Amino acid sequence: MKEQIHALRQVIKDDASNVDTTEALESFRNTYLARKGKIAALFEQMKDLPKEDKPWAGKELNALRTETEDLYASLEANVGGESGDANSIDYTLPGRSYHFGHRHIVSQTIEDIKAIFKNMGFSVVTGPEIETDYYNFESLNFPPDHPARDMQDTFFVTPDIVLRTHTSPVQTRVMEQQEPPIRAIMPGKVYRNEVVTARSHMQFHQVEGLCVDTDITFADLKGTMVHFAKQYYGESLKYRFRASYFPFTEPSAEMDITCYLCAGEGCRVCKNSGWLEILGCGMVDPNVFKSSGIDPERYTGYAFGMGVERTAMLRHGITDIRLLFENDLRVNKQFY
Ligand code: PHE
Repeated sequence: MKEQIHALRQVIKDDASNVDTTEALESFRNTYLARKGKIAALFEQMKDLPKEDKPWAGKELNALRTETEDLYASLEANVGGESGDANSIDYTLPGRSYHFGHRHIVSQTIEDIKAIFKNMGFSVVTGPEIETDYYNFESLNFPPDHPARDMQDTFFVTPDIVLRTHTSPVQTRVMEQQEPPIRAIMPGKVYRNEVVTARSHMQFHQVEGLCVDTDITFADLKGTMVHFAKQYYGESLKYRFRASYFPFTEPSAEMDITCYLCAGEGCRVCKNSGWLEILGCGMVDPNVFKSSGIDPERYTGYAFGMGVERTAMLRHGITDIRLLFENDLRVNKQFY
C-alpha cells in the first residue's frame, strides 16, 4: 500500500505539469479526484488491509487527496482564470453587446412635443397632480353643478380636492403668476375615473398649451396647431378643425388629421372616417382671464390640450393604451 500511494503521488505530480488546457484539467480531475478515480480506488482497497495498518493508510491517503485537490485548484486558476493561456480565450466569439436603458415612449413623446413648441418660443411649466376643485374646475369656468363637470369622471380626494382631470388648471396657475405676453406648455399626468380598456385608462398624460398677448386671434391658434401637427406627424398631412365645446374656451374646436394608417381612405383605426382627432383647443374664455387676474379687455389668448398616449399611439400605430403602462420590456424595447 505504501508503495502504491508513493507511486500515485509521483504520477499525479508528473501529470499535473502537463495540464495546460481546460480539457486536460477536466481529465486530471476525472482520473484522480472523481468518485471512481485512482485515489478513491486506493481508499477502496483499505478494507482489505490488516486492522493495524488502517490508521496510517487512511492518514496517508487523506493527505494525498488534500494535496491533489490543492494542486487541482491552482491548475484551475491558471487554465481557466483571467491569466489563462491562449487556449482559454475563444477569439472567434462575437463581442458582448451592452444594453443601455432609454426613455419610455411616453417620456419620449413629451420630449418631442416640448421640442417643437420650444422652437416656437414656448416655455415649459408644471403644476400639481392633486388639485383643488377651484383650479381644476371653477377657475376654468365650470360653475358648481354644471353638467360639463361630467365630461371628466373625477377621482375625489375630499369633496374639494381632486386628482386633476386635465392639465388645464396649470393655465390658471401660470396666468396668476405671469404677466402677458405668456407662451407656455404644461405637460403632466392626469387622472380620470374610467374603466381601463384598450382605448382609455384612468391615468394618462396631457400637454397643455397657452398663449396670451394683445391681439392674439384664432388664426394664430390655427397656424400654431398646423405647424405643430406637420412637424410631429409629417408635412403631407391634411387637417380640419371642427367646432366643439369646452367651458374654458370660446370658441372651441377639435383638430383632426388624416389617418396615419389609411391616409384618409377609411380603415379600422379611424373607424372608416379617414380622420383622427389629435387635440382640443380654443380662445381663452374671458371668464378664465377674470379668475386669473388678467384683463379680458386688453388681452386675448388661445389654449390647447392633447393626450400624450393618444399622440404616441397614433404616430406608432399602437392599438392598446394598456401596453404603455405595463412596462413589458418586449414592448418598451421597440421604442428606442
Ligand atoms: N382640457 C381639455 C381636455 O382635457 C383639452 C383642452 C385644453 C381643450 C385646452 C381646450 C383648451 O379635454
